[in-house]
Order: sequence, then structure tokens, then C-alpha cells
Amino acid sequence: MSTTRFLTGITTTGTPHLGNFVGSIRPSVQASLRPGVQSFYFLADYHALIKCEDPVRIQRSTLEIAASWLAAGLDPEKVTFYRQSDIPEIPELTWLLTCVTGKGLLNRAHAYKAAQDKNQAAAREQDDGVTAGLFMYPVLMGADILMFKAHKVPVGRDQVQHIEMARDMGASFNHLYGEHFVLPEAVIDDNVATLPGLDGRKMSKSYDNTIPLFSSREQLKKLIGGILTDSRAPGEPKDTEGSALFQIYQAFATEAGTAALRQAYAEGIAWGDAKQVLFERVDQIVAPMREQYEALINNPARIEQTLLAGAERARAMATPFMRELRSAAGLRSLVQAAAPQKAAKAAKAALPSFKQYRENDGRFYFKFVAADGRLLLQSTGFDAPKEAGQTIARLQREGLAALAGQLTPAEGVAEADVAAALRALADAAT
Ligand code: TRP
Repeated sequence: MSTTRFLTGITTTGTPHLGNFVGSIRPSVQASLRPGVQSFYFLADYHALIKCEDPVRIQRSTLEIAASWLAAGLDPEKVTFYRQSDIPEIPELTWLLTCVTGKGLLNRAHAYKAAQDKNQAAAREQDDGVTAGLFMYPVLMGADILMFKAHKVPVGRDQVQHIEMARDMGASFNHLYGEHFVLPEAVIDDNVATLPGLDGRKMSKSYDNTIPLFSSREQLKKLIGGILTDSRAPGEPKDTEGSALFQIYQAFATEAGTAALRQAYAEGIAWGDAKQVLFERVDQIVAPMREQYEALINNPARIEQTLLAGAERARAMATPFMRELRSAAGLRSLVQAAAPQKAAKAAKAALPSFKQYRENDGRFYFKFVAADGRLLLQSTGFDAPKEAGQTIARLQREGLAALAGQLTPAEGVAEADVAAALRALADAAT
């Protein structure tokens, strides 16, 4: 029963590179195999539209990313693996969340603020080139996460703010319409390396310094040959600290392998030889996956089928949940009764009640009050609260007649009114 649901999305704008493999694909696939874990991984193609207006690119990237994850060992039987745009409930939920999200909250989102800062630096109007899509992006992401009641969302540090916003949205909705959403938490794995790219900066498409995960052997060799090194000659000891080549090697090697290369650095290995060592190691890891990848990418129909099957599973959750959410917010059939929770609350508010209290004379009293606040009965004083309680119990059990000498209806109240109120209370208790 105590399964933890993990969910993460991959924006479909690029070609997976070694940094994606080490930082996201490999740890996510491993995590999905742990017991007690339920994983939802999806291709965030609605998110892709925010930064990419090239349809061919989005389609190609979706294919490449799906093939990469599958080639890296993702088991679509075990993981719910789907394409975001196959789930129409996602944009539907986005609107419900939009209506409970403060505009001020979105003003503070990093991605939006970064765009504004850039405009300011360039002396442009602050929202120049900013689409409402970029502005709304945290809400779409909130819908992605809240839809599947994810407990944990593995992301990079830059995304933590979005998970917190998703919590805020979920909490606002829950507060207004009852407990529907699980409030998610970000998970950042500090053991996962950020890989440096060819130029030593973080490997990233935006720096154009990446090594694609599935380049051919020849291409891989050529790219690794282009990794920036210092100018130390063969025989001169080399620093592992700050060496992009060494860091990439470390992400692919065993501990023993890493120790051996460290030793070789100290002994002055030539950069060309070090690159050869790195190339052979990366290729050794990638080669078996590469074969799978080629087979998958050449059979898009099979991937399409896998994704549609994943979407079907995802929608088996999303469709009924969306119905529940719509209804909770009041988007429901005119013949449907009010939400049970609210009905229960309203019914409770409409019941008569006993109120026990102590007076200044030190004695204990109770009142029986109608749903509308009208006083029905006022007791005389008791020496102990227990006596008051027992009298209430007897009144409820045996009715007013049994206590005729002791309790009389309040001014202007008929005995029948008291009896009706007692019955209403008894009915509500069963
Ligand atoms: N915005 C995320 C990124 O750029 C991708 C993403 C979209 C995502 N929806 C998500 C990640 C939901 C986690 C959960 O990396």
C-alpha cells in the first residue's frame, strides 16, 4: 500500500546527450526498478511549444527521447510512459489550476523573471517576446504533477521553485474544494553528477557543447577528441581537478577505473591517450544501448504504440480524476446532488445541539438549541458536569416526558418542537 509515486517530464526540444543520460535518464531508469516505487515518466511536448516553434524538431525530439529512454532500459510495463499531449485532461486541469493561482505567484517564476531581466538589460520593454505560454508554464507543470498524485518529483535545482508552486496550487484547490490533490515534493539527487560539456561548462544544448548520447562510434570519438584540455605536454603531471575529461570519465567508470585514470594523470598521461581511454569507456557503456536505439528509431510505429498504450494507462487515472475535480468545482450535471462532503457539512450545520457550560454560581448547566439558534430547553443547575451529561443522555434516550419534573421547554417552545429536534439529532447520528 505504501508505494511512492515518482513523476518527471522531459521537454521534447532536443537530442539526448551524455549529460541527460548521466543526470536524468540513467538515475530515473534505475529508480523505476526499485521496489515500492511507481513511476510516471512523460514526454512534455506541450512544454516544448513554449520554446520551440519548429514542428519537425518537436516531433523528431519526441521520437529521439522516447527511443533513448527505452534503449536505456525503461520498462514501459513497469513505468507509465506517455506523451503529455495524449492526455487532454492535462490542459483541462491547467485551467482549473489557473483559476486558483495568484498572478503574483507567476510573476515570481524564475523563467519569466529571467526573460524580463534580459529585456531590461537590452533596454527593451519588459515583456517583449514573452508569450503567455512562458508566463503560464508553472501552471501546466503543476497540472502534470497534481494530475497523477505524485509524491516525489525528481528534478534539477532550477525546477524546485515549480514544484513549490505546484504545492501552492494543490493546496489552494484543496482548501476551496476539499482534499483532492497530493502535495508533491521535489527530489534532488546530489549524487548525480552534472556533466561538463566540450568547453568545460555544464553540458547543455544552450551552450552548444554537448556530446549526443547516440552518436556513431566514429562521431563519438571525434567529439571526445574535441574536449577542451590544458596545454600540458605528454609526461607532465595533469590536474584531475577542473578537468572536464576526467569528470566525464568518472561518470561512466567504476571506482577502480577512476582511480586508475587519476594515477595516469599524476604520471603524465598524454591528452590524446586520456581521450582514447575516455572514448573506449563511454563507447563500452553506450554500444549495447546504441544497437537498441537504432532499432527503435527505425521503427517509429512501435514507439508510437508504446506511447499510446502508456497514455491509455495514464488516462485510466486522469479521466475519472478530472471528472471528480470538475464536479468538486461545480462543473457538473444539474441533476447531480451537491458534493457529499459539502452536503455533510451543511447538514451538520443544520442540526440542533446541546451546549454544556458552567455558570458563575459554580454549577453546571446545559442548553438544547435548535439548528437556527433558537433556545429549546434550558436546564437547571447540576452539582457536577457528569450529572448534566447523564441528564442529556437520558433525554436523548427516553424523551422529554421522562424528565417532565426536571426540564421544561423554553418560553414559547412546544414540547413537540423539542421532540422533533431530538429526533433530527438521533437520525443524523445513524
Ligand atoms: N519543466 C521541466 C524541465 O524543463 C520538464 C517538466 C515538465 C517536468 N513537466 C514536468 C518535470 C513535471 C517534472 C514534473 O525540466
